[in-house]
Amino acid sequence: MNLETVKQDITQVLVTEEQIKKRVAELAQEIGKKYAGKDLLLVGVLKGAVMFMADLSRALEIPAQMDWMAVSSYGSGTVSSGVVRILKDLDADVLGRHVLIVEDIIDSGLTLSWLASNLEARGAASVEIVTLLRKPDAAKVEVAVAWVGFDIPNEFVVGYGLDYNENYRTLTSVGILAPAVYS
Ligand code: IMP
Ligand code: MG
Repeated sequence: MNLETVKQDITQVLVTEEQIKKRVAELAQEIGKKYAGKDLLLVGVLKGAVMFMADLSRALEIPAQMDWMAVSSYGSGTVSSGVVRILKDLDADVLGRHVLIVEDIIDSGLTLSWLASNLEARGAASVEIVTLLRKPDAAKVEVAVAWVGFDIPNEFVVGYGLDYNENYRTLTSVGILAPAVYS
């Protein structure tokens, strides 16, 4: 779905479909080199990372498996609570495997730093993170992110998997949500 469809709800397009496509291809190249010859398990974080995971995995030129986790840190608001709950756990056993967490966006970084330690504690051979988007606050938390698609300003964004109250996920680009929608 195009941003034009919900134009009144979006104040600015931050990342276009074309920019995403180009960047995803670059990331897939780098990731493919890093994991060549290794047993790679992509762990997508539901539901925001669905689009990114689908495109990134298909752009990879090495074999990989896909699994999914659902965690909650936000409720339905727009500010991170820091409380992480597992809503859906992995089907796969990560013991001895190279895990790449695929995330839509890092804001406070609380969700990811918790998730990375959780997967490390299960005995993964390695745990790395790739995120499509990163907000400035992420720098404050000690979470090592191997790959970042785009650094964006501290705004609430939607589209390409990212939602507000489950809406806007199907947009093909990423835009800033008009504050009027959530205030
Ligand atoms: P963190 O724990 O603050 O890093 O929050 C990360 C999670 O919050 C992401 O996986 C998203 O689901 C959600 N999130 C953070 N910022 C945004 C945003 O701007 N738009 C939509 N979801 C967001
Ligand atoms: Mg969300």
